[in-house]
Amino acid sequence: MGSSIFGHKLILSSFFLFIFLLGAVHGRRKCYIVYLGAHSHGPSPTSLDLQIATHSHHNLLASIFASEEKAKEAIIYSYNRHINGFAALLEEEEAADIAQNPNVVSVFLSKEHKLHTTRSWEFLGLRRNRKNSAWQKGRFGENTIIANIDTGVWPESQSFSGKGFGDVPSKWRGGNVCQINKLRGSRRNPCNRKLIGARFFNKAFEAYHGQLDPLLHTARDFVGHGTHTLSTAAGNFVEGASVFAVGNGTAKGGSPRARVAAYKVCWSLTDPASCYGADVLAAIDQAIDDGVDIINLSAGGSYVVTPEGIFTDEVSIGAFHAIARNILLVASAGNDGPTPGSVVNVAPWVFTIAASTIDRDFSSTLTIVNGNNNQQITGASLFVNLPPNQAFSLILSIDAKLANATFKDAQLCRPGTLDPTKVNGKIVSCTREGKIKSVAEGQEALSAGARGMVLGNQNQNGRTLLAEPHVLSTVTRLAIYANTTPSAFHRTATDDPISSGATIKISGARTLLGRRPAPVMASFSSRGPNLIQPSILKPDVTAPGVNILAAYSLFASASNLLTDTRRGFPFNVLQGTSMSSPHVAGIAGLLKTLHPNWSPAAIKSAIMTTATTRDNTNRRIQDAFAKKMATPFAYGSGHVQPELAIDPGLVYDLDLIDYLNFLCASGYNQQLVSSLNFNRRFTCSGSHKVTDLNYPSITLPNLGLKAVTITRTVTNVGSPSTYTASAQLPGYNIVVVPNSLSFKKIGEKKTFQVIVQARNVTKQRGYRFGELQWTDGKHIVRSPITVRRK
Ligand SMILES: *[C@@H]1O[C@H](CO)[C@@H](O)[C@H](O)[C@H]1NC(C)=O
Ligand SMILES: *[C@@H]1O[C@H](CO)[C@@H](O)[C@H](O)[C@H]1NC(C)=O
Ligand SMILES: *[C@@H]1O[C@H](CO)[C@@H](O)[C@H](O)[C@H]1NC(C)=O
Repeated sequence: MGSSIFGHKLILSSFFLFIFLLGAVHGRRKCYIVYLGAHSHGPSPTSLDLQIATHSHHNLLASIFASEEKAKEAIIYSYNRHINGFAALLEEEEAADIAQNPNVVSVFLSKEHKLHTTRSWEFLGLRRNRKNSAWQKGRFGENTIIANIDTGVWPESQSFSGKGFGDVPSKWRGGNVCQINKLRGSRRNPCNRKLIGARFFNKAFEAYHGQLDPLLHTARDFVGHGTHTLSTAAGNFVEGASVFAVGNGTAKGGSPRARVAAYKVCWSLTDPASCYGADVLAAIDQAIDDGVDIINLSAGGSYVVTPEGIFTDEVSIGAFHAIARNILLVASAGNDGPTPGSVVNVAPWVFTIAASTIDRDFSSTLTIVNGNNNQQITGASLFVNLPPNQAFSLILSIDAKLANATFKDAQLCRPGTLDPTKVNGKIVSCTREGKIKSVAEGQEALSAGARGMVLGNQNQNGRTLLAEPHVLSTVTRLAIYANTTPSAFHRTATDDPISSGATIKISGARTLLGRRPAPVMASFSSRGPNLIQPSILKPDVTAPGVNILAAYSLFASASNLLTDTRRGFPFNVLQGTSMSSPHVAGIAGLLKTLHPNWSPAAIKSAIMTTATTRDNTNRRIQDAFAKKMATPFAYGSGHVQPELAIDPGLVYDLDLIDYLNFLCASGYNQQLVSSLNFNRRFTCSGSHKVTDLNYPSITLPNLGLKAVTITRTVTNVGSPSTYTASAQLPGYNIVVVPNSLSFKKIGEKKTFQVIVQARNVTKQRGYRFGELQWTDGKHIVRSPITVRRK
């Protein structure tokens, strides 16, 4: 990359200093979000409406502070447009006082969230030139606007070039706001007809960390994460994309002709960046106002696990207001798998995405040299820079432990644990620590003089092999260690050939296509059940999130480590549900272009009911952790299939009233539900059940002995047709009434019931999985069924 880009000395040096704590961080006060539901003003508030809303926020707080001046000072954001509420610096008692006010829905700390390609679109079946493909029919997502709430964007990336794009769609209300600094010597406006807007939100971050250098007041991405995810959702076609010469191909997003807008809320030079809830909410409120169609959000929820939890989570709140304005919010399931119940972003109005592999590996071969009896192990590699035939002596990190380091720290090659006199010139074997990012081990190995590293998975990583941009030549291999004691890892392989004194060679990294089986559920992908709303299956679907190549920030180092000087990569490989959710945002963009009148719920239903539970060997999708078949707790409805999603036949539609009835049925009081209904009184009828929310999956978490009936309504979105139902659920009797539905026109709705009863009184403890399917011979409309006997 040209040096001009990095000639920006002023910016560069200030980044390395990075966070300046200019002044104390507000003593005992912390940033709280006071959430008030929806505004009574309409979708297009006048400036008077906005003033009135903000004034009401000042008033509310003044009632606690006894001074309007102080109230004004304490408020860092007044959410006065779509989301009703404010973020303020408060002491704990003050926050507790405000929570007593009957108009307040919830008061919670603005939490700090951590941020949770070339081949993946082919793997999903999309082909650029195929006639009548989802891409062609969806006009590559033309004129859909996708918002990315993340670490910002590298606007000069070819993935966001405005070449060939027409006028900005008139539905865009964000004007010409482009809060990105130009590169030195550049005259061009960083935004264009592709990247149509960019803003940053940092008030909550600054409230905790002190003021950022004004030079950092920009939506420019210095980490790479936001650029990567946005280009996955909607990047242009860019030929010859690769990193370290692997993965060469055409990079593109799911909606390559969509327009994009970047909202930067995550701040740091290193990964994971910190994203504060109050900043996230401000960004969502802005994106709704700007008129985007789809919001993709990486940062993810952590909330109190109570039924009220849903309104103490910024993502749930923001998504609710987005959906009320017909905007779909796509978010990641989280990277805390394989722990059961680890899934986040679980509200029914959020589209929650798990992560799985594609059929491409970045791979290298590790050869254990032993006379004529060489043994080979295949592992994952992105970066190998060793003479191809040179053999090296291997040492286990525990055998190179410094005296002052603990055994476990040495196993994990944590900083300051390896003895250079033992490691120098060798290849060192370490155990990986991180679930989705584990590059610090390499830094320690390199500082101790190692030439390369073998990184062994822990048990929790299962068979998910990540090819990461390590700082030295590295091959990642399968688990041989289990974390069984607090002080050390237990070695599970007794005859492991990787041992101190072995002589090994590592081949160069190469790209392997057509791997089977794929997809496989990634070990790190967060799992159900949904602990907050158990009657809603989460995650909703899975999409590619392992070893994903996409655009990157030229400023960021390849590994995101501060000590890594390798910069200037237009593309990079990253991991996580952060990578899978923009795939779904991209597909949703295609559907939005093809069916502009579909609701967010209809788009989501189309993607869910056409997803598959089969892999490319036509067997059930496997779980990389459990060495067995994955369940809907890992993949929800299954792996997305955009070619089928564009024509689902039937959809399970939902509108705001359905969600409000669901909240009534979940036990929220009528006042709260009314406050979400733009302050129009909403009557909870008492006749709705949580299990009747018209969701495209069916979950009965508390089934007794009696038969249970659930109701669903399907809407025809295809040609006239007759569908018949089939349902199966092992150990249960299950009946669909009626069993056949005929549709004469588009938009026609038909309601049916599913009746479920345990067959055997004693035997069906635990969760059971089945499915319901409607088919007219052309379409298959499939819903997973999850049941647990109480
Ligand atoms: C990538 O592929 C293109 C076309 O196949 C080729 O021209 C280019 O040299 C390749 N680049 C790398 C880095 O291998
Ligand atoms: C999309 O959402 C995922 C998961 O919530 C996030 O990690 C990613 O950065 C987001 N990307 C875009 C395009 O917004
Ligand atoms: C152990 O001592 C070395 C040399 O003094 C030091 O560099 C290293 O950081 C120490 N390691 C730990 C884990 O304290």
